Amino acid sequence: MIFEAKEINLKNGIKAILKTPETTDAKMFLDNILTASGETEFLSRYPEDWEGFTVADEEKWICDNRKSENNLVIACYIDGKAVGSCDITFFKDMKSSHRAGIGIAIRKEYWNMGIGSAMFREIIEIAEKHRGTEILELEYLEGNERGKALYEKFGFKTVAVKPKICKLRDGTYQDLFYMQKEI
Ligand SMILES: CC(C)(COP(=O)(O)OP(=O)(O)OC[C@H]1O[C@@H](n2cnc3c(N)ncnc32)[C@H](O)[C@@H]1OP(=O)(O)O)[C@@H](O)C(=O)NCCC(=O)NCCS
Repeated sequence: MIFEAKEINLKNGIKAILKTPETTDAKMFLDNILTASGETEFLSRYPEDWEGFTVADEEKWICDNRKSENNLVIACYIDGKAVGSCDITFFKDMKSSHRAGIGIAIRKEYWNMGIGSAMFREIIEIAEKHRGTEILELEYLEGNERGKALYEKFGFKTVAVKPKICKLRDGTYQDLFYMQKEI
């Protein structure tokens, strides 16, 4: 699926563009996810866990997403540079096609500017128009108060907790919170 370019104004007055990435952005996206994975304890992988994932793999991921009827990626660009993205997967099996899953990651330098809210607004509006979708779901890791605040602002509610899902380098465990929003 493709989201055509849309200009938005961020909290600090900076202009940004929301759009689906092109395959030519693959290296920038891979660099972003590697950096983001090291900037926060709230993504499910460390940068090392991406070892072996290449620019070609990222290119294929972007290409498959653009062609797919079940997946959409909306990225945020500032001055031509991708700073974060949000994706939704509309599940296609008969027993799960009433649900869609959302993921999001933004580079630390750009947190708290309203980018997450802007991408969520668009993704939720698209999901609301998507035939058959009744439930949006997402997960966040223990301690991610910014993420939780964003998700609650958009009407998501925690409905289940899985204990000790991640174990950090220092031995600390994180529970995983599963949220849903009925649309
Ligand atoms: C979580 C994340 C997606 C949020 O995106 P964002 O662009 O920073 O979010 P926004 O600026 O749109 O909104 C953040 C909200 O959280 C609030 N907030 C910020 N820090 C907070 C804190 N410590 N406690 C509670 N609320 C907080 C902000 O005030 C804002 O609410 P408001 O719009 O009502 O003022 C982004 O910070 C991120 O990518 N973090 C690292 C990776 C990650 O956690 N991904 C999600 C995995 S589930």
